[in-house]
Amino acid sequence: MIDIITSFNKIRFVSDKKRSEGERIGLVPTMGAVHEGHLSLVRNAREKADFVIVSIFVNPSQFGENEKFDTYPRDIMADARKIETAGADCIFAPEITDIYPEGYATYISVERLTDGLCGHSRPTHFRGVTTVVAKLLNIVNPHVAVFGQKDAQQLAVIKKMVKDLNMPVEIDAGAIIREPDGLAMSSRNSYLSAEERTQALSLFRSLRQAEQLVSEGISGSNEILRNVREIISQQNLAGIDYIEIVDPEEMTPVKDIRGGGLLALAVWFGTTRLIDNIVLAEKEGQNNAG
Ligand code: PAJ
Repeated sequence: MIDIITSFNKIRFVSDKKRSEGERIGLVPTMGAVHEGHLSLVRNAREKADFVIVSIFVNPSQFGENEKFDTYPRDIMADARKIETAGADCIFAPEITDIYPEGYATYISVERLTDGLCGHSRPTHFRGVTTVVAKLLNIVNPHVAVFGQKDAQQLAVIKKMVKDLNMPVEIDAGAIIREPDGLAMSSRNSYLSAEERTQALSLFRSLRQAEQLVSEGISGSNEILRNVREIISQQNLAGIDYIEIVDPEEMTPVKDIRGGGLLALAVWFGTTRLIDNIVLAEKEGQNNAG
């Protein structure tokens, strides 16, 4: 069975040893409840690194007060089996009290990029994400860390943090992995009722419709957004949090996608909030997965 390491000293010892032997270390941070989306990142890291570490840590500081931290699905043995099969070399699963010991006081905030989209309804979320990711990078010290395009704003925020703080790590992106019917894989999908899940398919349908409009030559954000909104609004269980077209790096709204446009949305189905996105137009010089 794959090694599950909880101690900071031990994971750092393993990482340092491999590094000194000339191996490239890859890290895939997760909160567990592992699915094909996570495993695709492991395979991705496998291609870019010689030694792949997957971290599992349900990070309390990125959950809002009314968010489901306590009931977040946890099954480390099932996760470990999947992660091993996908080709990772070890798992780092630190304890909450080690990551946030009593008296913990230091947080990292990326400004501006975290104001809109998910940052609007989850004002403390990205501060928790960047703090824990910075800590994981410091503890594990990988050459490369891989994140999913599924969480496009998270990816942009982490890239910005690494650049702004001169962190010596490469950030790579993995494409969005979907169920055969198009629903983006997410640990939150397990919260959906059958009816909610059926209606949630409207998200991917609307993204595809947007892509179709772009292929027909439409580039104005308002027209694209109107179409997307219409498809999702037809679902009686859908509650739109946001649907926006933003600059893929800055996360600020764009009126026209020709200089680069990411269509990102967050929609409630019952008590479950789903996010999804599609890159409608790459930003020049950007090589974006997904
Ligand atoms: P978690 O939601 O477990 O996701 C871990 C990684 O898997 C993230 O980089 C996420 O973008 C990616 N991922 C999730 N669903 C995916 C899908 N359908 N296709 C491709 N990749 C997918 O994101 C987090 O955890 C946390 O915020 C974390 C970065 C670990 C910090 O706590």
